[in-house]
Order: sequence, then structure tokens, then C-alpha cells
Amino acid sequence: MTISVGVAILAAGEGKRLNLDVPKPLAPVSGVTLVDFVLDELQIFFEKNKLNGNIGLVVGHKKEMVKDYLEKNYKGLSYAVQEKQLGTGDALKSYFNGCEFASKCDYTLVVCADTPLLKSTDFDLLLGEVNSKKLEGVCASFNAQNPFGYGRIVKDGIGFKIVEQKDTSIEQQKISEVNSGLYLLKTSYVLNQLENINNNNNSGEFYLTDVFKTDANVSAVCFNSDENFLGVNDLIQLEEAQRILSKRKVEDLQRAGVRFINSSSCYIEKNVKIGKGTVVYPNVTILNDVEIGENAVVESGAFLKKSKILSGTQIKAYSYVEEALVREEAAIGPFARLRKGSDIGNKCKIGNFVETKQVRLDQSVSVSHLSYVGDAEIGENTNIGCGFITCNYDGENKSLTKIGKNCFIGSDTQMIAPVNLGDYVYVASGSTINKDIEDYGFGIARCRQETKPNLAKKFLKGKFNKS
Ligand code: UD1
Ligand code: MG
Repeated sequence: MTISVGVAILAAGEGKRLNLDVPKPLAPVSGVTLVDFVLDELQIFFEKNKLNGNIGLVVGHKKEMVKDYLEKNYKGLSYAVQEKQLGTGDALKSYFNGCEFASKCDYTLVVCADTPLLKSTDFDLLLGEVNSKKLEGVCASFNAQNPFGYGRIVKDGIGFKIVEQKDTSIEQQKISEVNSGLYLLKTSYVLNQLENINNNNNSGEFYLTDVFKTDANVSAVCFNSDENFLGVNDLIQLEEAQRILSKRKVEDLQRAGVRFINSSSCYIEKNVKIGKGTVVYPNVTILNDVEIGENAVVESGAFLKKSKILSGTQIKAYSYVEEALVREEAAIGPFARLRKGSDIGNKCKIGNFVETKQVRLDQSVSVSHLSYVGDAEIGENTNIGCGFITCNYDGENKSLTKIGKNCFIGSDTQMIAPVNLGDYVYVASGSTINKDIEDYGFGIARCRQETKPNLAKKFLKGKFNKS
């Protein structure tokens, strides 16, 4: 029989200490938000254990914002509103009141929205424990180096209880085993217990932790490492979580054959894909929705965003690539900027201080130095000299420059768009081209040179004038 697990994600808190404009569950981390990590791991947990799973979020502070974000990105989530934040016990009551499925599930898993480092294996372990030992519920605990602030696990009788920091005796403050805030309980048990909790404690809050009793068949499962339980309450913890998530991401990539020279200096977001054999140098930033093929090289200082970079490419030092497609074996940079809509063909060369935007370069096009190529189509094997500019903007409209294949475009040339050059065209250096040129045409648009013997002497001054 399939086991059903209802998940309550507690996400109503304000997260004041984070000091962000967004509610805590939506705090940005690794290109997504805190709650995305929790939801992803839950999905893995459901699939792996073939569970009938349902997820309900308890929302409160800026609830519309949380709902909007989640509705755009996930299907099938339920929401329960906790009007006033009266404590975690009250939040769980709101979940049962607001989510139709909640009381019908065999088990209830309680997770906080601000613990992005939890792994599906943590949930597996709790499920295994409850099942094999026929328990009413378990709480994930760990031994904290500094237990201050956490609820302490007080073992007594057949079960245990949790004493919150504010309610601890001096003796209890010495206990290092603490509550992580992750629980798995039989739904029938937790529903019963919730009826009886009160707020007669030093915080005046309804504590969810009061569902654990010393005379109940419940147990604390002590984990060896506390890393997965890191809760994000301020920007220091957010960075710490980010650092660990980035490290985990890098390790996944390393297992898949990506070679990092010094990964601790790199920032790689959650959805980045990189193929086997690719080498990433130090100080590289790769944001979400970047896909890099196999055997590519990404040199230091590269900043990559929403781009597809195919196999065998080289992204040389300090290049900025955004919403671009770089096809196989192309070389970009150093110091290049590929902007939105750049489609760089196989084996193209984009050199230093070249900016491209909304362009399609066929294979083996070379734009090696100091150029702006915007709103353009360039045919295969064409060579663009140094200091080339497409004059694509007249103050109002953008116009297209088309250059055919096998053209030779001299240095310091401008194309006043719209302009259309055929195949095998030669444009002389220093030309400003504003008329179309047919196949095999030669374009030159500059003044003829005049040379006047000895006239330099009249103009050379100071140390330059030796006469
Ligand atoms: C809680 C535990 C504590 C544990 C610690 C681990 C209780 C009473 N205490 O304390 O034993 O060691 O987590 O980090 O549960 N929330 C709501 N509505 C509320 C209050 C909180 O949705 O009315 C949500 C928060 O948004 C947060 C989660 O519940 O995601 C935990 O609340 P928090 O106030 O952080 O509890 P702690 O004091 O840390
Ligand atoms: Mg907390």
C-alpha cells in the first residue's frame, strides 16, 4: 500500500533579521530562492520512496508574494494562511485547517522554509525510523557546539520533550543535543497532540515542539552533522548557506567530469549545466540557465548568464556573456562582451574589446579586435578588421547590417545600417559604407592621401623638431 505523506512547510514568519524586501522563503540563494531548495528535495523524496505526497505551505507575512512566486513555478501546492504569527504550533494548526489533504495523510512531515540545505536523505532517514520502530513521531536532532537559541532535547521516560531556550533551567542549558526543526509524525498522533498545546510559556507562543512527550512513543533521531539543518535567519547565514550550496553544486559537476582549478573562488548557480572535460579556471561566475558543452575552457573573470555555450569553445578571461549562443569551437575574448541575441557560429573568433548584440555570425567569422557588431548578419569565413562599427541606431530605430560570406572588411570601417554587402566583398580600411555592395564588389569611402615633402618640419615642435 502506498504511504501518504503530507508536508507542512512553515513559511509564515517575517524574517526581520534578513533585512530584505522579499519575505524570507523568497530570499535569493543560488539563483533561486530558499524555498526552492526545500521543494526540490521533497520532490526527490516522494519519487524515491514512491510516496503519495502533498505539500502545503503555511504563509503569512507577504503571503501574496510567496504564493505568486510559487504558483508560477510549481503545480499542485496548497496554501494555508496563518493570520497572526502565534508560534510554530499555531502554524501547524493553520496547516491542518487550511489544507484539505492534511488530516487524511498517514504521516505529516514538518519542514521550515528557511532550511535550504536539507537533503532528501534526511527525510528518508526519518521515514525509515518511524516505520521500522513503529513510532508515533520523530524529531531530527544534532549535537550543537553552541546550543544557545535552540530547543533542547530532554530525554526522560519512553519518549522525550523539547524545552525552548527561554524556558530552560540552568541544568537543561548544558544539554548539547538540540532540535533541528524537522519532524515526521503520524498524522493521527499530531492532530491529537495539537488539541492540547497552550501558550503558557516564557514566549507566550504556541510551540509545535510541545507535541513531543516523555510518555509518548516518540524519539529524537540524532544526526552526525548539523550542516543540513542550517537555518537562514540573517544575511550572514544566507551567505554561509550559499557557500555550501555552491560547493555542493561544484562537487556534482566534478563527479560528472568538470575540472575546476580552484572552485572555492567560483560562484556557480543551481541550474547550471556543464559537460564532461570542461575546465573552469578560478574566479568564474556562472549564473542560472547557462549550459556549457563538453571540453570547453572558461578562463578567469568570465561572467556567464542565461547562455548556451557549446562544446569545444573557449571563453577567455574577463568576458561577459549574456543571453547568447556560442556554437562549437568558437573562441570568445579575452575582454569580450556578448549581449542578448548574439548567435556566434562554429569556430568564430571574437577577440578583445569586441561587443556584439542581436547578431548572427555564420561559421569561422572573425572579429578579433575593438569592434561593435549590433543588429547584423555576417556570412561564413568573413574577416572583420580591427575597429569595425555597425552604426545600427539612428536615434529612433535599429537597422540591420548584412555582410555575405568570404568578405574582407578592412580596419576602421563603419557600416551605416541598413546596408547590405554580398559575398566576396572587399571593403578598404577607413571606409564609411552607406551603400549596398554586390558580390565581388570593392568598397572604398575615404579621402585620397596627399603627401607634401618636408612640410612636417613646419609642424614639428620641441624635441620633435631636430632641424
Ligand atoms: C524552532 C524550534 C526550536 C528549534 C529551532 C530550530 C519551536 C517552538 N522551536 O525555534 O526548538 O531548535 O526551531 O531552528 O518550534 N513560523 C510560522 N509561524 C509562526 C512562527 C514561526 O510560520 O507563528 C515559521 C517560521 O517562518 C520559520 C519556522 O516556523 O520558518 C520556525 O520558526 P522560528 O521562529 O524560526 O523558530 P525558532 O525560534 O528558531
Ligand atoms: Mg528559527
